[in-house]
Parts: sequence; structure tokens; C-alpha cells
Amino acid sequence: MPNLTLPGLVDVHTHLRVPGGEHKEDFATGTAAALAGGITTILAMPNTTPPLTTPDILRETRQKAQRAIYCDVGLFAGASPTEIERLPQLAPHVMALKIYLNDTFGPLRVEDLPTLMACFQMWPRTKLIAMHAEGQSVAVGIGLAAAYQRPVHFCHISRKVEIELIAAAKRRGLPITCEVTPHHLFLTEADAARLGPLADMRPKLATLADVEALWGHLETTIDCIATDHAPHTLAEKQSPHPPPGVAGLETSLPLMLTAVAEKRLNLERLIELMATQPRRIFKLPTQPETQVEVDRQVRYTLSNTGLQTKCGWSPFAGMMVTGRVQRVILRAVEVYADGQVTAKVGNGKVIP
Ligand code: NCD
Ligand code: ZN
Ligand code: ZN
Repeated sequence: MPNLTLPGLVDVHTHLRVPGGEHKEDFATGTAAALAGGITTILAMPNTTPPLTTPDILRETRQKAQRAIYCDVGLFAGASPTEIERLPQLAPHVMALKIYLNDTFGPLRVEDLPTLMACFQMWPRTKLIAMHAEGQSVAVGIGLAAAYQRPVHFCHISRKVEIELIAAAKRRGLPITCEVTPHHLFLTEADAARLGPLADMRPKLATLADVEALWGHLETTIDCIATDHAPHTLAEKQSPHPPPGVAGLETSLPLMLTAVAEKRLNLERLIELMATQPRRIFKLPTQPETQVEVDRQVRYTLSNTGLQTKCGWSPFAGMMVTGRVQRVILRAVEVYADGQVTAKVGNGKVIP
């Protein structure tokens, strides 16, 4: 019997790897992993192969999604220096624009000020801009939000200095928001040393002081939890040049519920961080008659077996957690129950 009912959760940062990376994940397996994690709306990143930077690729990708998804999916457009003129054409097909200011997986990058300014001038003001910004790039993003007086969302903030700078900018009333990932809340650089490439991602795992600073800002500065679900195969991770990124859709809620069980977080705040606020920030449509049934007392060890994600492994395997998703209802239809996806393929909606 469920002893907790949550609203459908939202994850505004996932990599579903379509097109071009379907051996890592695809729309069916990625949205199945979302449902297993109690998540009914996800946003997918544009660093695919090719990246989501032209109207044609976006249209094709939306069609592929519509045929395969089990939960609702919105796409990001990617900012590419060669395609800036096309940004207004991309906007109707996506939920937001993603700009990569620092090095990470895939070729999408914007590293010069004229191109950054062009992005802000070309992207419609009605839609959000999200950034992969680390270290002093966070200050660049804050400066752009201030100069253009428009919202900027910072992805996967991981360090004490970054969250403190964002807190200072928010105190000044600047229109910025940020997400943190479960891996930056529950793992440190000690885990990176233990797990090697299996705990390598961008931003890299940080120090205990950084992790403690994030927990200290969870009630205030941090707007939402997002997984940065970034699956790569075990073979790729064990290769001479392992790509950065780890899966996270199926472990996010159990980890955050564990924090609630341990009284490091209260349940109302968990719901704000994982549902209410991400929906508000990205202006995501509501999902009527949608709920997640949870056993909040069950204790178990996270494992690599039984995962829905195609990559089939998690950096959290072996960790003890409290809380498990039992059943998910989306628009009055059962879509997940007892470890199995019960939804029909294509049951999800592509948004907008
Ligand atoms: C992401 C990926 O694999 O696409 N990797 C990562 O380490 N986070 C890219 C990203 O989100 O920066
Ligand atoms: Zn990133
Ligand atoms: Zn990412």
C-alpha cells in the first residue's frame, strides 16, 4: 500500500540521446526511466548528434519523440555559433534555449561575448535561456541576465562559490534561477576517486565543503532538483577516453526521500524542488489527474539490476535509500506499476 502520494514530478535536465546516441538511451527507455523515478514531465537537452540547432532536426526529433514516449517531453534548442540567425525559428518547437559556456560532452559551445549577446538578442523574451556555466561563467550569465533584464536558469550548480554568487545576485533581485543534481548533493570527490569514470561528469564532483554549501542553500537559493540524466554505456565509460555524465532519473526521488527520512529536508520543500518550481520556471503545462504513489518507509539498496535506462548502471548502486515509487498515474491512466511500465507507447505528449 502506498503511504505517500506526490504530484507528477518534473526533471528539467535530461539527455535522451536522440538523434545519434540511441545506443546509450532513446525516447522509450529514457521516458520509462523517468516514470520509474516518479517523473512525468522531462526536458531533453540538445547536445545530440547532430545537435538540436536547426528547424528540420527539431521537427524530426519531435516526431520521433511522439512515436515513442511514455511521459511528457519538452526539448531544448541548442545555441551554436553557426546557427544563431535561426534561433527565432527554433523557439516555437522547444521549451527553452540551452547555451554551453564550458567544456562538456558534445560539440555545442558558445565561448565569445558577441555570440552570447547575439543569443540574448535573437531568442524570444517569452522563452527561457538555460546555461551550462561553471566557475566564473556563472558571473557571465548573471551579467547577461542583468544587462538584458531577462530570466537565466543555471544548470547543475555544484560549488560553494557559485551558489554564494547566485544567492548574492538573487538578493539584488536579478531574474535568475538554478538547479542542483542529486549526484552533487550525495557524492563528493572521494566518490570520484573510488568510482573513477563511473563518477565522472561535468561539473565534476566537488569537495565536502561544496556539498555542505549546497545543502545549506536547499531551502533558499536553490530553485529545483534536476538529474542531468546523462547516460553513457559501461563500455564507453571503461574506454581510454570515457565521456562525462551519469544516469539519474531512477535514483533522484529515492535519494531525496532518504533526505526527508533523515530529516535533512522536509516533504513540502521536496515537492517544491521536484514539481512546483520547475513547472513554474519553465512554464510547463499542468498534468491533470496525475500522481505518484510512493512507499516512503521501505529501505533497500540501489542496484544496477532492473533499471529502465538503456545504459544499465548507476553511480549510486550499493547505496542504501528509504522510499520507492510503486505506481504512477498520468492523466488518469496507470503508466507504471511495481517495476514495470504499463503505459502505451506514445502515451506521453511532446510539449509545447
Ligand atoms: C552531459 C552529457 O553527457 O551529455 N554530461 C555531463 O557530464 N553532465 C553534458 C552536460 O550536461 O554537461
Ligand atoms: Zn552541462
Ligand atoms: Zn546535462
